[in-house]
Amino acid sequence: MKPELVKVGMVGLGLAATSHFKGYASHPHAEVVAVCELDKARAERFAAAHGIADTYTCYEEMLETAEINTVDIATPTFLHAPMTLQAADAGKHIHCEKPFCRYVGEGFEACEAARRNGCKLVVGETYVFLSSHIKARELIEFGEIGRPLQIRQRHGAWLARKRASAGAIPPDRSWRVDGEKSGGGDYPWIFDHAVHFFATAEYLMPNAKVSEVYAVTGTCGAGSTKRGAAHDPYTTPEVDIPIITWKYDDTDCQGVWMRAERLNGKYDYMRGFSTTIIGESGMIEVLGEGGDNLLWDGQQQHLVLRREGKETCGFRFDEGGDDVWQSDICYYSRGHINQVHHLIDCIRQNTQPRYTGEDGVHAVQCTLATIRSARDARPVRIGEIEPEYTAYQ
Ligand SMILES: NC(=O)c1ccc[n+]([C@@H]2O[C@H](COP(=O)([O-])OP(=O)(O)OC[C@H]3O[C@@H](n4cnc5c(N)ncnc54)[C@H](O)[C@@H]3O)[C@@H](O)[C@H]2O)c1
Repeated sequence: MKPELVKVGMVGLGLAATSHFKGYASHPHAEVVAVCELDKARAERFAAAHGIADTYTCYEEMLETAEINTVDIATPTFLHAPMTLQAADAGKHIHCEKPFCRYVGEGFEACEAARRNGCKLVVGETYVFLSSHIKARELIEFGEIGRPLQIRQRHGAWLARKRASAGAIPPDRSWRVDGEKSGGGDYPWIFDHAVHFFATAEYLMPNAKVSEVYAVTGTCGAGSTKRGAAHDPYTTPEVDIPIITWKYDDTDCQGVWMRAERLNGKYDYMRGFSTTIIGESGMIEVLGEGGDNLLWDGQQQHLVLRREGKETCGFRFDEGGDDVWQSDICYYSRGHINQVHHLIDCIRQNTQPRYTGEDGVHAVQCTLATIRSARDARPVRIGEIEPEYTAYQ
């Protein structure tokens, strides 16, 4: 059988779209042939810049008329599961940004539609497609640190580059702080990001699933400057979750995520996202999104491997730096390119994606358990989150 040429229609041309486009443009068997964006002028600018013939402002029309077999969804979160469902019912393969859904029920409905229609569905969970994280997983699988037992994730400030792709960011991103559109209720930032933290928690702890979470809540210091990156509208959170702890179904293992950045008035010299994986006979420190200042032997490293009785090793992933953050970990764009290439390869080779719709739903369920834990001030088991439970009602 002749492998399919992957012909893509992209919907939503905001921050994430350029990295996705690079993924399709750099694969020899894919082509973006249509784009869809509510803002017509924006759609036309994007199409002209990238040599794309077909532009739409209506998603349904693109699904019906464009010559595509694949859809790339990078719209605001409330549209992810509904647009996935529509694409699957139109017989298209799908790459959809995280968070995959706002509640478990709508996520599973979209997964079921993809299954029913024989469509490949990859959720764009960049943290499991980042080169540094892929290397960490490889080292773990190779037995370099023995059995992993504990994951410690930290989040210092993500610093935007001075010349971050400014023109690429739409003027109105208020959906990000809207409880219902973001899906996060009082915790829009946590809803948008914690899916990454839980995906990482399971990717770097193979064979264990997160089973219970506990959120430590806080409020921001009065009068402090409460800004995230310059392009983010999260300026004045009244409630906050600076620490999340979790247990796994394997009771020997635990994890924690902690934030110390300007957003909640704390300083951390180590920037961006980084994770320490503690194993029985060693440990790995690895940088993630926007990560910086992991030093060993007088040099900046991207991953440091420490083992009992063996020499410590440093690894770097020189992929041209990041397009958005002050970091030489290439999250934007390499992480996104890797995940887009993965979808294309799954379509062409008819293989099962390694991060599926169901995985995306599970990360959302863990995130909803976190928000419920903050609301109820108690640990919450993942199974307590019913299909219809939302953070915004
Ligand atoms: N994996 C990552 O690292 C990463 C990074 C950025 C964003 N994201 C995710 O991607 C999604 C989009 O985020 P963003 O920051 O790019 O958003 P954005 O606000 O920058 O862009 C969204 C775009 O979608 C368009 N849009 C809205 N409704 C539409 C519709 N019905 N039809 C067509 N276009 C429509 C808007 O006009 C806007 O241009 C979010 O869910 C976010 O969580 C993920």
